[in-house]
Amino acid sequence: MVTATKSSRGPNPLCATLGIVHPILQSGMGGVAGPELVAAVSNAGGLGILAALNLEPDALRAAIAKVRDLTDRPFGVNIWLHDDVRTPVDPALVGDDDVRGMQAVLNDFRPRYDLPARLDRPPAPADLVDAAIEVMIDERIPVFSAGLGRPEPALVERFHQVGAKIITMVTTPDDARSTVDEGTDVVVVQGSEAGGHRSVGKKLSFEAASGHGLFTLLPHVVDRLAGDAPVAAAGGVVDGRGLAAALALGAHGALLGTRFVATRESRASDVWKQRLVGDIGETVLSDGFTGQWARLLRSEFTDRWAEATAARRARALPGLLQAAAGSDLFSAARANGDDQLQPLYAGTGWVLIDDLPGAGEVVTRIVAEARAALAGSGPL
Ligand SMILES: Cc1cc2nc3c(=O)[nH]c(=O)nc-3n(C[C@H](O)[C@H](O)[C@H](O)COP(=O)(O)O)c2cc1C
Repeated sequence: MVTATKSSRGPNPLCATLGIVHPILQSGMGGVAGPELVAAVSNAGGLGILAALNLEPDALRAAIAKVRDLTDRPFGVNIWLHDDVRTPVDPALVGDDDVRGMQAVLNDFRPRYDLPARLDRPPAPADLVDAAIEVMIDERIPVFSAGLGRPEPALVERFHQVGAKIITMVTTPDDARSTVDEGTDVVVVQGSEAGGHRSVGKKLSFEAASGHGLFTLLPHVVDRLAGDAPVAAAGGVVDGRGLAAALALGAHGALLGTRFVATRESRASDVWKQRLVGDIGETVLSDGFTGQWARLLRSEFTDRWAEATAARRARALPGLLQAAAGSDLFSAARANGDDQLQPLYAGTGWVLIDDLPGAGEVVTRIVAEARAALAGSGPL
C-alpha cells in the first residue's frame, strides 16, 4: 500500500490535482504505452497515460476498459491535437516534386526488403482524433492529456463537465500561459532533451523546433505561470536526480517517456529496448519518419534523410503523410528487427538507462532516489 508523504509545505499541487501519490507521470506513447504499462505506473502511485493516437474508437474503448480492469487508480489518455492530424492533410494537395523527392530517398532502401520502388502519393491517413475524443468523454476518463497542440476552451469545458482533469504539453512560456488561460489544469513543459515528437500544434522550422533545454525553459515557464497551475518537467528525466533537479527548478514533478520505454510492460520492440540499455549511438531531431520533428536514435535512415533535405533533394510531406508514404519500408524494418530503418524514439537521457525493470519499480526507485538527492545536496 503506497501512502502519501506529508511535507511541511503542504501537499504537492500536481499530486493533489491529479489524485496521485507520487509526482511522476508516464507519457502517452504510441505503440508503447498500452494498458499494462499504464496500470503498472498508476498502481505504483504515479499517473499512467494511455496512448490513443491512431487507435480506432472500438480499440480505444477496449484499451480503457482494460486499464480499468488492472487498476482503480487515476490514469490518463493522450492524443495529439496537431492541426494537420486533427484534420488530416489531403494527399492530393501535395506537390508532385515533393512526393517524388521523398520517395526517391525511400527507394534507396526498399531493395533491402525486396520492396518495389514507388513514386506514388501516399493514401490519406485515417481521421481518428475527434472520434477518440468522443470515446474519452463518453468513458469519463479521469485525465485527458494533450500533446502537439492546445485544447481549445470548448474542448476543455467538455472534459471538465465529465470531471476530467486536463494536462497539456507545451514547449514555450507563451503556450504555457495561453493553455492555462484556456483552462488547462496541469502544464507539462517539454525541453529539447525530450524523446519523441516536439509538442507544437504546427510544423516549425528545424531551428524553431529544436527549442530550449529544461535548465532555462522550466524556470522561465514557472515564472510566467506564477503558481496558476502545477507544472511537470519533460525531457531527459530518467532517474531521481533528474526529478530532484526539476523540483529545484520550480516544477512540481516530471513526465517521463524514454525511461518507461525501457521497462518490462512497455510494448516497444526488443531491439528498441536493447538499444536503450546499450551505449552506442546518439539522438537527433528528424522529420524523416513521420513528417513531424521528433528526437530519436540516429540511424542510417536519419543520416540519409538529413543529407537529402540539406541538399534540397527532398522535404518531409505535411501532417503524417510521410509516415503513410514510408509505411511499407518502416513496417518491413520493424518486422525484421532492423534498428536502422525504424524510428527508435529516445530522449537525451537514454545514455543513463542500463536496465529493463518493471514500470512500478521505476516509480518507487525514482521517488527514493529523488529524496536522497534532495537530502544529500552538497554544501554551497
Ligand atoms: C517512444 C515515445 C513516444 C511518444 N509518444 C507521444 C505521444 O503519443 N503523445 C505525446 O503527447 N507525447 C509523446 N511522446 C513525448 C513525451 O510526451 C515526452 O515529451 C518525452 O518522452 C519526455 O522526454 P523523455 O523521453 O526524455 O522522458 C513520446 C515519447 C517517446 C519517447
